[in-house]
Amino acid sequence: METASNIWLTGASSGIGEALAKQLATHGHRLIVTGRRKEALDALVNQHPEQMLAAPADTTSKSDLEALKDSLGHFGDLDVAILNAGTCEYLEIAEYDSRVIEANMITNVVGTARSLDIALPALRATRAKGKPATLVIVSSSAWWFPFGRAEGYGASKAALTYFAHALRADLAAEGIDVVVVSPGFVKTPLTDRNDFPMPFIISSEDAAHRIVKGLEKGKTEIAFPRRFTWLLKALGALPQGLVDRMAASMARNNHS
Ligand SMILES: NC(=O)c1ccc[n+]([C@@H]2O[C@H](COP(=O)([O-])OP(=O)(O)OC[C@H]3O[C@@H](n4cnc5c(N)ncnc54)[C@H](OP(=O)(O)O)[C@@H]3O)[C@@H](O)[C@H]2O)c1
Repeated sequence: METASNIWLTGASSGIGEALAKQLATHGHRLIVTGRRKEALDALVNQHPEQMLAAPADTTSKSDLEALKDSLGHFGDLDVAILNAGTCEYLEIAEYDSRVIEANMITNVVGTARSLDIALPALRATRAKGKPATLVIVSSSAWWFPFGRAEGYGASKAALTYFAHALRADLAAEGIDVVVVSPGFVKTPLTDRNDFPMPFIISSEDAAHRIVKGLEKGKTEIAFPRRFTWLLKALGALPQGLVDRMAASMARNNHS
């Protein structure tokens, strides 16, 4: 990431996005910050008024995104788009309802895809001037193992990661880098609702620090904390029969 980049960051009104916005501003970058809650964005912008612009929008709404399109050029050419807005809705299997699956898919997959409707032309315009351009997609490591209740969330993040990797293949010829961020558990308003143990949980400031460090090093895959992501990768690589038995046992423990 160039010094003093112009960055569009979605999901900046709380949690990982808010912490990331503050750290990026401290590193000298300029940010256009998006979320639905205008007051939360205004409070953030007030801390760095010279370097931040609030651009409230629902990222699932094409018209909201169209309305903020011009703001992406507020500080000059857009260097980086960080698509971080997301939700996590858990399924109660006894009351199966496909709306839970849909809610995760709409915000995490469709919302990110729609954000790209406006981000991609802006990044392409930057590349056309011979400058680097980077797209960052915040996914999750949750889908690396089949966790009970996470049918909707895990499926949405698996789809999102595939989306990002396929984009990476297609955009390589244009020189637009695609970075995938796969956090483990991070303490945010999203996980404060969880009523189950969250191993190796880290703070949103720590998560933001790891993302900034990864971007500065030019990494294209940023997964953390390592102990958790390695454990998940190792578990997920076991024979399917074993994975199924472990996953069912964990799901039973969570229901009891
Ligand atoms: N916390 C974790 O353990 C964890 C782990 C892995 C991945 N992640 C991912 O990290 C990202 C940030 O999550 P977080 O934990 O920081 O949760 P959070 O504190 O709930 O933040 C979610 C952010 O997304 C925004 N958002 C949600 N729906 C939106 C919509 N339709 N339009 C615009 N903005 C929307 C929210 O803003 P408004 O409410 O103002 O719209 C908020 O700023 C998510 O993609 C999440 O899946 C989190």
